[in-house]
Amino acid sequence: MNNCFRFCVLLTLAIAALMHSASVNAVQVDDFAALQNEFAATQQAILRRSCLECHSTEQKQGELDLERFHSVTEIRGDVIPWQRAVEVLDDREMPPEEATHPLTAEERKSLTRWIRGVLDADARANAGDPGPVVLRRLNNAELTYTVEDLTGVALQPAQEFPVDSAAGEGFTNVGNALVMSPSLVQKYLDAAKGIASHAMLLPGGIEFSPSTTSRDWTNEKLAAIRRFYARYSDSDAVTSVTLQGIPLETNGGGRLPVEKYLLVLIQERQALVSGTRSLADVARQSSLSEKYLNTLWQALQGTEPSPILDGLREQWKTAQPEHVPDLVRRIAQWQQSLWRFTTIGHIGKRDGPTAWQVPVNPIATRQELRRPLPPSADGKSSTFFLDSPRMPETELSTT
Ligand code: HEC
Repeated sequence: MNNCFRFCVLLTLAIAALMHSASVNAVQVDDFAALQNEFAATQQAILRRSCLECHSTEQKQGELDLERFHSVTEIRGDVIPWQRAVEVLDDREMPPEEATHPLTAEERKSLTRWIRGVLDADARANAGDPGPVVLRRLNNAELTYTVEDLTGVALQPAQEFPVDSAAGEGFTNVGNALVMSPSLVQKYLDAAKGIASHAMLLPGGIEFSPSTTSRDWTNEKLAAIRRFYARYSDSDAVTSVTLQGIPLETNGGGRLPVEKYLLVLIQERQALVSGTRSLADVARQSSLSEKYLNTLWQALQGTEPSPILDGLREQWKTAQPEHVPDLVRRIAQWQQSLWRFTTIGHIGKRDGPTAWQVPVNPIATRQELRRPLPPSADGKSSTFFLDSPRMPETELSTT
């Protein structure tokens, strides 16, 4: 009972599978069956009579043996000679004039149509089949471009590789011709090491550089940061310093040319206040940063009281272009006590600065003084005075 049940299920499944494959291949199977019938009925006899005289297994003229094909299936196993046969039949090259049994016009037409039918049906049956696919490596050009796409840098990983051999077709990307040898594997490993030596491990991940030394990497990054700041800043205020015996230029670039911004704001003040021109418009026309221009404008036009800005705003209200140097001098004084410029190369290091320009709190809450104490007159107590021009006299005494 149980066995029967199992058997019935299997049978049903098998029939379903058969029906499925039958419906998919129905047309093709019918095609080949009809072609095979025609082969047996007429075409094989024509071939035997007009071709095998010279193309039998024994004769094999022109290296061609047509006798070995006994069915359509065998023809499908080796179609190349039949492709040629269609050509020579069309061109009336075969059978040659000396043949004992030439083809009638009717036979030539029928034989050609039938061979073509076999070739076409075979092509349709194999449509979409790429043929055997071999596991292949990238060729040298593919590897080079792939590495460039992945790293963003034009490295030459295949520089030491042998030239790719071309297959019969002349192409260098045919899997069968892309050989791999133990020595090439070694070269691949060396190339991978070479690529890895261009990798920079940065806080935000890996990036690749055209160079391989950390010194060059630092310089690249510094140059990029400088380029970024250079768009809207000046190279004024360069100072030469000597660090460990090496003369260096510091503060080269990156300073905001405040005078240019002030001058433009003074010139355009009327238009800006009345709203006939926008800050964006002014910034664009004078090639200044809109963000910086806006910050300066807000600070100067602001009304909330500020011990630092109040005096400056007063002067700004009536300032003319010739007052710019004076305004800049006042601003520079405050800049010096409120900001400090760090070293770009140290940004992002542990405990290093987070920006190039960092704020400084100028208010000191402690001041250490060291003085040798003279011996006291009475041998018991001494009196000291701290004197500041801004503070009332302060008396300190110690015993
Ligand atoms: C009388 C002898 C003879 C007969 C009959 C004959 N052939 Fe040939 N066939 C030759 C010879 C000889 C060559 C080689 C010619 C050459 O290499 O230039 C040849 C070459 C061919 C080639 C190869 C051509 C090529 O360059 O690849 C094909 C295909 C061919 N024959 C098909 C046929 C067919 C189909 C028939 C029958 C319809 C046929 N031959 C009948 C003698 C014959």
